[in-house]
Amino acid sequence: MTGELSPIDKAKFVAAKRAAEFVEDGMRVGLGTGSTAAWLVRCLGEMVREDGLKIRGVPTSSRTAELARDVGIDVISLDEARWLDLTIDGADEFDADLSLIKGGGGALLQEKIVATASDQMIVIADAAKEVGHLGSFPLPVEVIPFGWQTSQALIEETLVSMDVMGRKTTLRMNGDRAFVTDEGNFILDLHLGRIGNARQLAMVVNQIPGVVENGLFIDICDQVVIGYGDGRVEVR
Ligand code: 5RP
Repeated sequence: MTGELSPIDKAKFVAAKRAAEFVEDGMRVGLGTGSTAAWLVRCLGEMVREDGLKIRGVPTSSRTAELARDVGIDVISLDEARWLDLTIDGADEFDADLSLIKGGGGALLQEKIVATASDQMIVIADAAKEVGHLGSFPLPVEVIPFGWQTSQALIEETLVSMDVMGRKTTLRMNGDRAFVTDEGNFILDLHLGRIGNARQLAMVVNQIPGVVENGLFIDICDQVVIGYGDGRVEVR
């Protein structure tokens, strides 16, 4: 499954493999999105095929759903599962409180719904994702396409009123077109530099008309499994 891996891929793989050990027979498992979560899905697929692990997986994107089916995981919808035992997902940044920025892959909406509907959320990440303060990674905000420029202007005004350091916002692109999420929405990336009060920012941004969800995950993650390029793993 792995072949010769670069240090960054090795870090992602070992974190995913260690986190897969938390998955038990009979669990309903939320399956994250991104390159680290893809390793997790492959590891779980191997456990299903070779060890007879019986799980049902709820994917957080069409990409993850396709991969999960390909590797032999029984895929169900969140509505079928209703509630999940565990969600394992990647992150773009995590801090000492296990607050996260997610959405680099554009799947933050389903990811937040699925993680929130889980008894437990474990983040898997390479060590470079750990930060002292959230915000170096642009904060993704999902907005509906109707009037998105008005939502963007309102977000920028809000950032000014909150005295946030960086205020630049950019529409995420896919080539020469706007990137479109699985729900048919756009993503605005907020280049903030450093987020002072993440909890307040998350609440205020979500009040703006047109905003569907933001990529700040506060009080959602329970544990983080950190992988290193030399193969070491740390669970916190
Ligand atoms: C997707 C996400 C991903 O979990 C995040 O972008 C990390 O991705 P990767 O594991 O590829 O570094 O939030 O929306």
